[in-house]
Amino acid sequence: MTLPTTSADTRPGGTLRGLPTELRLGSLTVDTPVVLAPMAGITNAAFRRLCLEQAGSAHGSGLYVCEMITSRGLVERDPTTLKMLVFDEAETTRSVQLYGTDPVYVGKAAEILCAEYGVRHLDLNFGCPVPKITRKGGGGALPWKRGLLAEILEAAVDAATPYDVPVTMKTRKGLDEDHLTYLDAGRIAQEAGVAAIALHGRTVEQAYSGQADWDSIGELVDHVDIPVLGNGDIWEAADAVRMVEQTGAAGVVVGRGCLGRPWLFRDLAAAFAGAEVTTLPTLGDVKGMMRRHAELLSQHMGEERGCTEFRKHVSWYLKGFRAGGTLRHQLALVDSLAALDRLLAELDPAEPFPVAELGTPRGRQGTPRKKVALPDGWLDDTDGRGQHLREDASETSGG
Ligand SMILES: Cc1cc2nc3c(=O)[nH]c(=O)nc-3n(C[C@H](O)[C@H](O)[C@H](O)COP(=O)(O)O)c2cc1C
Repeated sequence: MTLPTTSADTRPGGTLRGLPTELRLGSLTVDTPVVLAPMAGITNAAFRRLCLEQAGSAHGSGLYVCEMITSRGLVERDPTTLKMLVFDEAETTRSVQLYGTDPVYVGKAAEILCAEYGVRHLDLNFGCPVPKITRKGGGGALPWKRGLLAEILEAAVDAATPYDVPVTMKTRKGLDEDHLTYLDAGRIAQEAGVAAIALHGRTVEQAYSGQADWDSIGELVDHVDIPVLGNGDIWEAADAVRMVEQTGAAGVVVGRGCLGRPWLFRDLAAAFAGAEVTTLPTLGDVKGMMRRHAELLSQHMGEERGCTEFRKHVSWYLKGFRAGGTLRHQLALVDSLAALDRLLAELDPAEPFPVAELGTPRGRQGTPRKKVALPDGWLDDTDGRGQHLREDASETSGG
C-alpha cells in the first residue's frame, strides 16, 4: 500500500549526518539500524509482517522481534508458548526475545530456537518492570545479580554460537536511581560474548512514566565496545535520528511509537537512508491499514481470534481522527472481517491525517511505581551466581 508523505527531502549519496546505515550483530547484518521492540500482546507474526511491509525494500528492512517467550515454557513445550512461536513467510530473519532467570532453561531454550525454529537473532529480556516478574527476580530486577546475569548470558551465547546466531540483551537503567545496573550489565554482556545491548533509558521504578534518559544511552556507548541500541520515546523518525546523533548509538529500538502507525518503519528506513519522510495517511489509507492488520491476524490466528486481537489496536489507529464514539466502540467489539468492513465504510476516507498527533506519546505511560517489587533480601548481595529463581512456564507479561 502506498501512503502519502510530506515532500521527501532526499539527500543524494545517502546520509549526510554520519548516521549508521546498517546494524551488525555478529554475522548478521541488518540493512537498516532499526529494531521493532518486542511488545507482549502486540508484536506477533501479523504485526511484524505489517511493519515489515511498510518498511519496504526501497530503503532496507530492519529487525522485527517476536513477543517475549519464556524459556521454561519453551523447554516444557507449554502450548501457550508454542502458539506464540509463529513466523510469517515474509520474515526472512526470525528474531525472538527470550525471558528467563535460570541459565539451564535459557540455554536449552536458546538451543531449541536455533535448532528447531530457524531463529537468526535471539534477544534476552532484562527490562520487564511488571511487579509479578520483578518480585521473582526476573526482567528488570535480574541485572542487580551480576553473577547470575553473566551465567544466563553465557548460557545463551554458548547455545547460540554453534548456529552462528547472535544474542543481544535488552535492559533498563536499573531498579531505581539509587540502584543503577546498566553500565555493569553492558560490561558483563560484552564479556559474555553478547553481540549488542539495547538500553531503555528508564528505571524499573519509572515503568513508562516521565521521559527516557537518552544521556544514559550515550554513557553506555562510551562504556562498552559492543553496539548499543537506544530505546525510549522515539515517536517520529526525526526522534530516532536525534537519539543516534546525541548518543552515538548503533541503532534504535522502537516500541510504542508504531502502535497504530506501522508506517513509522517506512519513515525510519528513509531517515537512515538520508531522506526526511513523514508519512501522512488519510483516514482512507488508515482504514486500508486496519483492514490489512485484521486480515493478517486472521490468517495467522483464525478470523475470530484475529479480530478479537485486532480490537486493542483500534483506538491507536484512530487517535486524533474525528471518528465518533459509537463507531469507535463498535470497532472495539469487532468479531469478523465482514463486520470490520461494514464499520470502516462509515469512516470518511478523505479526512486528512491529524498532524497534531505527530510527536505525541501513545500507548502505556502511567505513573512511577511506589516501590519496585523484589524478592526478599534481593539487594543484600549483588552476585547471585548459582541462585535458583522460580521461573513460570506461562508468563506472558512482557515489558
Ligand atoms: C504493550 C507493551 C509490551 C511490551 N512488552 C515487552 C516485552 O515483551 N519485552 C521487552 O523487552 N519489552 C517490552 N516492552 C517494552 C518495549 O520493548 C520498550 O522497551 C518500551 O516500550 C520503551 O520503548 P518506546 O518508548 O519506544 O515504547 C513492552 C512495551 C509495551 C508498551
